Amino acid sequence: MRAQVGIVGAGPAGLTLALLLERAGIDCVVLESRTREYVEKRVRAGLLEQNTVDLLHELGVGERLAREGLEHRGIFLRHRGHTQHIDMAELTGRHITIYGQQEVVKDLIAARLDLGAPLHFEVSEVAIHDLEGERPRITYTHAGSEHELACDAIAGCDGFHGVCRPSIPLGLLTEHESVYDFGWLGILAEAAPTTDELIYGWHENGFALYSMRSPRISRLYLQVPADEDIERWPDERIWEELQTRLAAEGWSVGEGPIFEKGIAPLRSFVAEPMQHGRLFLAGDAAHIVPPTGAKGLNLAVNDVRLLAAALVDWFRTGSSAGLDGYSTAALRRVWRAQDFSNYMTQLLHDLGGGEFQQGLQLARLEYLERSEAAARSLAENYVGLPAAGDF
Ligand code: FAD
Ligand code: DHB
Repeated sequence: MRAQVGIVGAGPAGLTLALLLERAGIDCVVLESRTREYVEKRVRAGLLEQNTVDLLHELGVGERLAREGLEHRGIFLRHRGHTQHIDMAELTGRHITIYGQQEVVKDLIAARLDLGAPLHFEVSEVAIHDLEGERPRITYTHAGSEHELACDAIAGCDGFHGVCRPSIPLGLLTEHESVYDFGWLGILAEAAPTTDELIYGWHENGFALYSMRSPRISRLYLQVPADEDIERWPDERIWEELQTRLAAEGWSVGEGPIFEKGIAPLRSFVAEPMQHGRLFLAGDAAHIVPPTGAKGLNLAVNDVRLLAAALVDWFRTGSSAGLDGYSTAALRRVWRAQDFSNYMTQLLHDLGGGEFQQGLQLARLEYLERSEAAARSLAENYVGLPAAGDF
């Protein structure tokens, strides 16, 4: 079998790349280790930058997003019962949209299958070969038989635990990593949100975040120790802690049956460069940010926007200038997002530094209120710097 581009992983990065390439007449095969049902149900991110929303519209997959996505003007920052509204629309002219990652994935899968383009689920034993030559290959098992796909280029979009990044020979990749000693306990509940914007809450007990998925479904997160046992968090304890950490006078978090509960670790990670020979890494395969800045999904989409443009140019003109610059261009935004995600994480979580650290955090929160420049800086990073150019 043969394809111009072999794409490993059908997450937001792989599926968006596939659509961008097919639109330009470049054929690709997408290989995914999980079932379609699993990837469509995997609950993760929810916040889309305007760049991401614009790209999904441009690709013709924005119809349900336009109908069901919740467009927000900004966010609330809350500490000790006091709430600041950061009006991002006013400060930057740009909006953010709440739309579950699994909904994006469903829309992208449907668009690909509508095209009749190859997307294989439940593949196993995926391995990539000959990355330094002109004809890299992917071998895998699907439906009980072994396959080989010869390509011109391979896109490693297989997430943090995938096989592509580890296929790069030792010593050619520099990995930067910082693992936090806390994670996020996240829930989905059948409960009407009692807020119309997301609330990022600072509290002595730790961070809490109030988000949503629809007018009837709330998505909430609590900072917990990294090694926390979910069994220690029965529903009543979760609600009690959310009410405590997000408290404000005359207001409460809307409660309802919890139908999804899980703990995710927090990590900052960058692998440089994002290329080896004819292998190009994109999304979580190359970098992870802590979720406080809501950047992971948006960064994945930005990577493939850059990668698709470079691949299209290469196939059309034979010039590899775009591909040669891909890693540098993508990493500029990756590091910007690392810095912002780190800033939001340090601003809002219990970092174990006691009263001195709390004093610093409260001073920063107060500064955001007193200085429009500080609020604007947070806002322009949160909504996402414009996609123009390579930044
Ligand atoms: P993934 O979504 O991980 O997709 C990789 C795909 O590759 C998967 O489908 C996987 O099954 C497949 N795969 C793996 N190994 C193989 C293999 N060997 N062969 C074939 N296929 C393979 N980001 C935001 O922007 N905003 C947010 O609000 C946000 N909140 C988050 C909240 C939580 C709790 C978590 C966990 C993450 C959050 N993120 C957020 C991050 C975001 O979900 C990820 O950054 C995003 O999923 C990255 O997309 P991706 O396509 O690169 O990787
Ligand atoms: C959501 C997740 C985030 O990490 C974030 O910063 C904002 C919203 C969410 O899942 O809705």
